[in-house]
Amino acid sequence: MMDRSLMRESARHFKPYYSPDADGALRLDTNTNVLGPNPAAAAALADLSCLDFNQYPDTYSRPLRRKLAGFHGLSEDNFVTGSGSDEIIDILFKTFTDKGDVAVMPHPSYSIYEYFSELHGGVPVKVDLDDGFQLDVEGMLAPDAAIIMIPSPNNPTGNSFRREDLISIIERSDRPVVIDEAYGEYHGDSFIPLVEEYDNLIVTRTFSKAYAMAGLRVGYCACSAAAAEMMTCIRIPYSLNMVSERAAVAALEDQDFITRTVEMTEKNRPMLAKGLEGMGFRCFPSDANFILARSPVDHRGLVDGLKERGILVRDFGHRRLLEGCVRFTVGTEEMNQRLLRACRELIG
Ligand SMILES: Cc1ncc(COP(=O)(O)O)c(C=O)c1O
Repeated sequence: MMDRSLMRESARHFKPYYSPDADGALRLDTNTNVLGPNPAAAAALADLSCLDFNQYPDTYSRPLRRKLAGFHGLSEDNFVTGSGSDEIIDILFKTFTDKGDVAVMPHPSYSIYEYFSELHGGVPVKVDLDDGFQLDVEGMLAPDAAIIMIPSPNNPTGNSFRREDLISIIERSDRPVVIDEAYGEYHGDSFIPLVEEYDNLIVTRTFSKAYAMAGLRVGYCACSAAAAEMMTCIRIPYSLNMVSERAAVAALEDQDFITRTVEMTEKNRPMLAKGLEGMGFRCFPSDANFILARSPVDHRGLVDGLKERGILVRDFGHRRLLEGCVRFTVGTEEMNQRLLRACRELIG
């Protein structure tokens, strides 16, 4: 009889991840790129007839790692690739934590850290952010952590953390400190140039957000060659498929698209915030392509009402410190107008 007693003990309380029936809806719930699929990647995928997919992809994505090395001014030995940065996070926990180990992360933050920590038998310790959603540096350093996870800009709050706070945590910890820069392109200020200076610093990045390739699942991390070598021994060989790798290599060559994306976001973000605030939302400052806002009406009713009008946004209102909050991906001007119109109808 299949029941949960047969399941790995550390995961028995797990539920499946967020999985809405999108069905043609306007997706302002996953912070993907509202300009549509990456054009350089699309061009690279237009003709795949020469691809010898009878063979495996390069075991450890050498072509993409070489490209990343040139792009970031590091060596290919400083990079590990994965099927999305979620796979990189999984590899990090598998490489640097054992059963019972503590993983420190801020709260509120990206839920996958807690998930992987628990999955691998660890103990996630969540340290509350302050009233301005900034880090409690002493609190983050207090537990005897095997790994410290910090997304900057943070999801779902949208703000980035103070550079001096992050440096202080990296310098004062002798364990891997992971800065998750999934939204790094929007903020601009990256920690990747510091990975040779601090050998415990690991910076994760994704092609899912500004690079507009979420469906192709490509992520990577930059770190010291020593850390990359350890992670490479744990990573599933061939985990990044050759189609996605080819698209990522092409996408890195088209930085104009990234510039356009970031400029569009910077232009539309304050307009969306102003429209929401005009209806009584409290918007929190964002360095990313989304805005967290406290709803003036019941958050569930708002999210459900928007869904009925064909717009998906993400409800965080049930989480501690995020009571009543909803996260909106910043859209194009037309998308934002449609969203604001629908909110106005619901708020009345
Ligand atoms: C902070 C953060 N890190 C990592 C990811 C995972 O991205 P992916 O696995 O698509 O690379 C996300 C996705 O929402 C995110 O918000």
